[in-house]
Amino acid sequence: MATNIRALAARCCFAVVDKGRSLSDELPKAQAKVEGKDKGLLQELCYGVLRYLPALEYDLRQLMDKPLKGKQRVGHFLILVGIYQVKHTRIPDHAAVSETVAATKPLKCDFLRGLINGVLRNIQRNLAKEDAAEIAAKLPDPIKYSHPSWFIKKVQNAYPDQWQEILNANLERPPMWLRVNQRHHNVTEYLALLEQAEIPVALVDDKSSAIKLVNAVDVNKLPGFIDGWISVQDGAAQQAATLLDTQAGDVVLDCCAAPGGKTCHILELTPNLAKMTAIDIEESRLLRVAENLSRLNLSAEVITADAASKEWWDGQLFDRILLDAPCSATGVIRRHPDIKWLRKAEDIEKLAILQQQILKNIWSLLKPGGTLLYATCSILPEENIEQIEQFLSENNNAKLVPITNEQTDIGWQILPNEQSMDGFYYAKLEKQ
Ligand SMILES: C[S@@+](CC[C@H](N)C(=O)[O-])C[C@H]1O[C@@H](n2cnc3c(N)ncnc32)[C@H](O)[C@@H]1O
Repeated sequence: MATNIRALAARCCFAVVDKGRSLSDELPKAQAKVEGKDKGLLQELCYGVLRYLPALEYDLRQLMDKPLKGKQRVGHFLILVGIYQVKHTRIPDHAAVSETVAATKPLKCDFLRGLINGVLRNIQRNLAKEDAAEIAAKLPDPIKYSHPSWFIKKVQNAYPDQWQEILNANLERPPMWLRVNQRHHNVTEYLALLEQAEIPVALVDDKSSAIKLVNAVDVNKLPGFIDGWISVQDGAAQQAATLLDTQAGDVVLDCCAAPGGKTCHILELTPNLAKMTAIDIEESRLLRVAENLSRLNLSAEVITADAASKEWWDGQLFDRILLDAPCSATGVIRRHPDIKWLRKAEDIEKLAILQQQILKNIWSLLKPGGTLLYATCSILPEENIEQIEQFLSENNNAKLVPITNEQTDIGWQILPNEQSMDGFYYAKLEKQ
């Protein structure tokens, strides 16, 4: 019997929400069991359920007296997979219902067949009601915006005029951005290659030259992907290498480097660095750095180490340091909707302490006159502006360098979907 995609999706969502596992670990394992287009559908179902989890659970609660517990929990997620299809996809209702019902077999929950049928038919009927949108608009915020309430409060406090826009942006499907390897082609040349390959381009970012595609495509269809001409990287992440502004002869440190996107970008832009050192605390993640360096034919010294200590350091000061700090990843929820359910309110303070420790430690490895670029893919002030404010107040040899001419804030906070980019934060510090 062919593998049932809905059953795999239900298992993945169960592993993330109930077991606290990361979707980036679970999804590839499930995708390995299916072929071709089904990989895309499986991803769509998992992402969809995790994006709209509270709203889907609310719908289910309206139609079911008792929640499914214990061994029946996978069945709970299977029903959510069904509701997601009916509410948010173009899959014809009859196919969504019959495929979801069929998934009860591999999940060994045949007893749910009738229930799933009934729930999904009810959802269809409710959607067709005239006041469906009116009712949805009156729901409590965590259901209406499909985010945990602690996070909604934080976003409301930090962005009183933009919080709804931010939460809605997190529910969108992210665009595909490309980074041209300037060692092979300039952007104009690569745009011509994309045109020849009939891959339409939506825009080119004027600061970083990042290319945004109209539609996501399989990387193997991108001209020269295997030969390292091109990489996939969000437009916001591509600002790092430009802002760091490395020069030939520089000694550079990327101190939270895995999987190596920014390390490779820096090397692509500055071929004659004296040395590039890439460290990360997780050995397994450093394998990805090695893979990326190899595909792009680049080289760096790669060390498994804790950036909050100096044990790994050989005593040579750095001209430029990139600190792409471990963070809440609240700026990239549209790419990783599981973050909403894996991250807890209490994590933020712990992360802020770790960020401050790393920042303090690596500041001492920077040459006088050198530049440190602090980056996070977070939108929370505790990890960004407040972090840099505190650092500046405690270190009078640190000077903030404005990133844009019109910059009045401390650092540059990019909000999710601003100029189509991920949520990101950058602050540039110069050592006096
Ligand atoms: C935001 S990711 C880095 C992404 C990377 N710069 C890129 O562009 O591909 C943060 C990284 O920090 C690493 N990390 C967490 N704590 C660390 C520590 N104490 N020392 C060094 N690396 C750490 C994590 O393993 C993770 O790979």
